Amino acid sequence: MELEGFVSKSYRDHDDPLKFSWSSPSNIALIKYWGKNKDQTPRNSSISFTLSSCNTKTSIVFSKIEKQIDAVNFTISYDGNIKNDFRPKIEKYFASIIKYCPYLLNYNLEINTKNTFPHSSGIASSASGMSALSLCIMSFEKEISEEQFSTDFFFLKASFLSRIGSGSACRSIYGGFNIWGKHKDFEQSSDLYSLPINQSIAQEFQKFQDTILIVDENQKDVSSSAGHSLMDNHPFSMDRYEIAYKNTSALKIILEKGDLFAFCELVEKEAMMLHSLMMTSHPSYILMKPETLEIIDEIKSFRNVNKVPVCFTLDAGANVHVLYPEKYSKSVLEFIISKLSKYCFQGKFITDHAGKGPKKI
Ligand code: PMV
Repeated sequence: MELEGFVSKSYRDHDDPLKFSWSSPSNIALIKYWGKNKDQTPRNSSISFTLSSCNTKTSIVFSKIEKQIDAVNFTISYDGNIKNDFRPKIEKYFASIIKYCPYLLNYNLEINTKNTFPHSSGIASSASGMSALSLCIMSFEKEISEEQFSTDFFFLKASFLSRIGSGSACRSIYGGFNIWGKHKDFEQSSDLYSLPINQSIAQEFQKFQDTILIVDENQKDVSSSAGHSLMDNHPFSMDRYEIAYKNTSALKIILEKGDLFAFCELVEKEAMMLHSLMMTSHPSYILMKPETLEIIDEIKSFRNVNKVPVCFTLDAGANVHVLYPEKYSKSVLEFIISKLSKYCFQGKFITDHAGKGPKKI
């Protein structure tokens, strides 16, 4: 779909306040998105799966205002308490989406949001937060639109708007496995939004587990946006984009075949490459902590000794995502409790798994 298709043209006014609520999950990337263009399109394709328990619940009350102003009028609360420090990010998001949702200028938006995962767990909330916000906006757009509105278009535009808020958020709109970024092996794939790729995924990857080991609860020193920008002049960026493209093809085959050990090898390679790019950028930085490395070592040796297909991946932070098929849950959780929880901040970890996607509430 071309960009013009996302601009809403014909909609009616709605005089009474309308409220919409969505719960939207976080997602974990297997092939990492790292490096972006100015319009927040990715420099390479990425593949993720959507989580289940780690999500953001957001509601918006849309109330008509008498006089249109030139920016979206809104209040933002976290769990009922006004949160003005969230404003700059949301103001920027509204400014960027207004050409696709011009009707927003006619309303006041009372936004209330809350994460199900602990506020300071070091888990990024931008994917779940931006997707929940975009879904509420799309529910409102559907209500006031005078154009034909298919379910496919609803989710496509929700993914498109989420991407503008935070790139990886576009992959939180559908359950299961998702691709974002144009790639020859995925016919309908696009840089503008994400699409689900569950039709061809082998049984081995259904109900995949992700236990998130909380190594560091603090806000990371270098934000994802700063990290993406450092890819612009990175000496390895071109090689990285090419490798990510090839790894996308390789992961597709692995997911179709159900090759769990090949999955472990590829997914770990991707995580290590992401962090090696951080370490070799200018200025360079390290987000892993000593505990992250201890955990990585333990996981590798547990896999080799016990022949259990468990692996790790990392986001842009020190926490470790432990990935494994549901049928190994008992042995992996025992391993996590006995060997890995001592490296976690206050022994904390969150058990999650591949989920069905956002829910309207
Ligand atoms: O969506 P952003 O701008 O927060 O970037 C996310 C980048 C990674 O989490 C490191 C990788 C990914 O694909 O999710």
